[in-house]
Amino acid sequence: MEYKTLSPEETAELGRKFALKLKKGDTVCLDGEMGAGKTVFVQGCAEALGYKDAVTSPTFALCNEYITKELKILHYDLYRIMDEDDLFSVGFYDNDGDIVFVEWAGNADITDRKCIHLKFEYGKDINERIIKIPD
Ligand SMILES: Nc1ncnc2c1ncn2[C@@H]1O[C@H](COP(=O)(O)OP(=O)(O)O)[C@@H](O)[C@H]1O
Ligand SMILES: [Mg+2]
Repeated sequence: MEYKTLSPEETAELGRKFALKLKKGDTVCLDGEMGAGKTVFVQGCAEALGYKDAVTSPTFALCNEYITKELKILHYDLYRIMDEDDLFSVGFYDNDGDIVFVEWAGNADITDRKCIHLKFEYGKDINERIIKIPD
């Protein structure tokens, strides 16, 4: 299904709705250009999953952890990942998150797990984004 959002708030709201269907063990891969709204979407997801603190881009940290009463959420950003070694050193293969979000998942070979693939694109207008979510 393809969604069009016209503001960051709408993208976060789409993330909130999407996250309600997530289950423990799910990995969500988010691909699309810089600024396309991946982090904003994850912010909405984390909120719906019960995480009430700030969700920021893990571009430099590579991985953020969001701990709730029920869940350990991992939020990766693989933009700067160079090779498999980087992924190992950041704990990517430890599989210890209940729900895992991976921005720039296309930069890595993550065939070791089943992913829900989301695609983010710029739309025609400056605040328009096209977000593809599998049915
Ligand atoms: N419809 C929209 N959805 C999401 N972000 C939007 C939208 N319109 C404008 N923006 C802006 O685009 C940027 C998206 O940033 P971010 O979510 O960090 O992108 P990414 O993680 O894909 O690099 C933010 O500055 C946000 O305010
Ligand atoms: Mg981001």
